[in-house]
This record gives sequence, C-alpha cells and structure tokens, in this order.
Amino acid sequence: MSGKQNKPVKKNVCVLFGGVSTEHEVSLRSANTVLDNIDEDKYRVFPVGIRKDGRWLLHRGENWELSEGIWEHNPGNTPAFLSPDGSFGLMILTGRSYTVQKLDCVFPVLHGVNGEDGSVQGLAQLAGLPCVGCGMSACVAAMDKYMTKLVAADAGVDQAAYVHVTSEDAGSGWKELADSLPFEYPVFVKPCSTGSSVGVTKVTSAAGLPAAVDYALSFSRGALIEENIVGHEIEVAILGGAEPVASECGEIVANADFYDYDSKYINSNSQLLVPSPIPADKSLEIRAAALKVFRAIGGSGLSRADFFLTEDGRVVFNEINAIPGFTSISMYPKLFELAGISLRDLVSKLIDTAIEEGPCHG
Ligand SMILES: Nc1ncnc2c1ncn2[C@@H]1O[C@H](COP(=O)(O)OP(=O)(O)O)[C@@H](O)[C@H]1O
Ligand SMILES: [Mg+2]
Repeated sequence: MSGKQNKPVKKNVCVLFGGVSTEHEVSLRSANTVLDNIDEDKYRVFPVGIRKDGRWLLHRGENWELSEGIWEHNPGNTPAFLSPDGSFGLMILTGRSYTVQKLDCVFPVLHGVNGEDGSVQGLAQLAGLPCVGCGMSACVAAMDKYMTKLVAADAGVDQAAYVHVTSEDAGSGWKELADSLPFEYPVFVKPCSTGSSVGVTKVTSAAGLPAAVDYALSFSRGALIEENIVGHEIEVAILGGAEPVASECGEIVANADFYDYDSKYINSNSQLLVPSPIPADKSLEIRAAALKVFRAIGGSGLSRADFFLTEDGRVVFNEINAIPGFTSISMYPKLFELAGISLRDLVSKLIDTAIEEGPCHG
C-alpha cells in the first residue's frame, strides 16, 4: 500500500443570487447563508450575483458583502453568466476576452420572479446542467398563485375560496366586483406572482377593494381575492430526492395583523415556533397535504408548503414556495435542524440531490 489517498474531485457549483425581483434583498440574505454553509472541501463555489438592472457579476469578495448590500461594488467582480450552450457553462469575461468554467450544478438562491419562477431553471435546462430545487414547470406552478390553486384543487387539497382577476377585467374599476364577492369581508388581495407578502393587502370593506386590486395588479398580470382564513399559520419544509420528505410543522406567530413584509423581515418580533404545538394528528394531516401538493406540481429538490389550521380543525393550503427563505433564522433550515440536519449538511444534500438527478428538466 502506498498510503496515498486520492482526494475526491470537487464539484463546481454556481450559486446565483440577487435577481431582478422585488425580493432581491431577501435573496442576498439567503445566499449569504448558503455561501457561509457550503462545504468547500466538497464544492468549488462560483457566486454569481444578478444586479437589479439585470447585470450578472462573478463576486470575488466576502460573503457578508451580500447581506450588507455592498457586494456589487467589489472591484474584483467580473461579468459572468450562464450560457444556454451546454458546452460552455459559466462564461467569465475579462476585458475583451473570456474564460469558460465548466459547472456540475447551478444553485439558484433567488426569490420571486426571474429566479423562482422557472426562468433560471429553463436556462439551466437549456445548458444541460443540474439545478438545485424544482424544474421549470414546477416553479411556474408554484410561483403563480392562480396556477397553484388549479393544480392543488385538482389534487383534492382544500384551499381558501377565491376570485381571480387580471388587468383586462378592470372595466368599471372593480366597484361591481367589490359589492358582489361570494364571501364576506375582510378579504385578502394578492398579486399572483410575487412573494414575501409584496403587494398583499387585507381589505376590510368593499370601499377598499378597488385600490387593493389595482395595487396587486401593479406587481403582476393577475391577482387573487381570497376569503380570510382565521387560524394558525403552519409551514412545512420539503426535501426532494427519490422519496421526498416532509419536515415537522413549524408555526408563524406574526407580530402584525397578518404576516406582511415588515413582520417577515423588518421588525424581528414575529415568532417561529419550531415545532408547532398543534395536535399530532393535525400535524400528520398537514405534512401529508404538503407532499401531495409537492407531487402535484411536479416538485423536486426543495419547497416549503404553507397552510392555515383553523380552530375547528380545517387544514387550508395557502401556497408553496419553490425557493423558500434560506437565512439562518428562516423556517426552512430551522425545520431540518430540528430533524438533526445541520445547515451545512442541508446545503450538501440539496446540491448532491440535484447532481444525482441530472440535468434540470420538466
Ligand atoms: N386567505 C388568507 N387568509 C388569511 N391570511 C392570509 C390569506 N392569504 C394571505 N394571508 C396572509 O398574508 C401573508 C402573505 O400571503 P401569501 O399568500 O403567503 O403570499 P406571499 O407569497 O407573498 O408570502 C400570509 O402569510 C398570511 O399572513
Ligand atoms: Mg407566504
């Protein structure tokens, strides 16, 4: 025996962050956590930030520059982007010349449109690259709340009653609609394709509906008006793979009238109960429903499915997020920590699962 051991070859992983999205800042915080916890003995990391103006830059600074919002000013950054041509991988520009970096996996840590909505997953698919998380069509089904409603209803999952509107329906300015909703006020009005509660309004009477609908439609082509569900807000983390796993239930106790952008990210008084103290049978019911929705959208890799549990025990599915918040205090990593999976192992599992599943598809 020579005693010499071959070190396993490191996998080249491109972590995408930022993005042209109202959730750009949230992505910077999630990506900071992913980059801090990626196992550098196993992976060679290429962090690529997408600025709000759409420019892609290979970030050559420290991870904390992301959450501090100063990453894009690092003078070492160079333009770099994924090529749809699978023979290139990551193209890194230096002046007028370029180098090509082969990749084993893309890890989009992007929230909202242009990242969580199938666009980047489509690019990975064209490039023939494995991609952490859901593929293109699952992302579309998860990102568009109207599509999610249709798919979940088809799978037999209970949800809040709703009315779907688009800007083409505007006509008389929503007044007629405000007076004829098939459920009582208060109602929730939300854009079909944002996250982080951006554009979401709780409307207490018909007078407030038109402005709330116009506001929601300023973010996305469609909007939902939903009946108000009063109950516990429960979230379940899902880890994909050959046999997807649903975590225990976590619970959000918002320090506001509802779990709006401020209570998610600005004031830190919202509480995460991990696990939620709801009864065990309800927890099992919610976890089963979470997997049902995940399968129905054709999910892979990861997702977080969100529910309400009402006082009389009704389990109401709210939404599924293809790329859930991933800061160290976010629900997704916390729920797996509870199951004994550290952030570092979770990040490795996500990347290894994507690589095992092969080029992004579907
Ligand atoms: N139908 C509803 N009934 C009660 N609360 C709701 C309803 N829809 C949304 N909310 C509240 O608004 C928050 C944001 O809405 P959500 O549908 O989760 O959108 P987002 O994708 O922006 O997180 C929820 O976490 C919840 O607090
Ligand atoms: Mg939500």
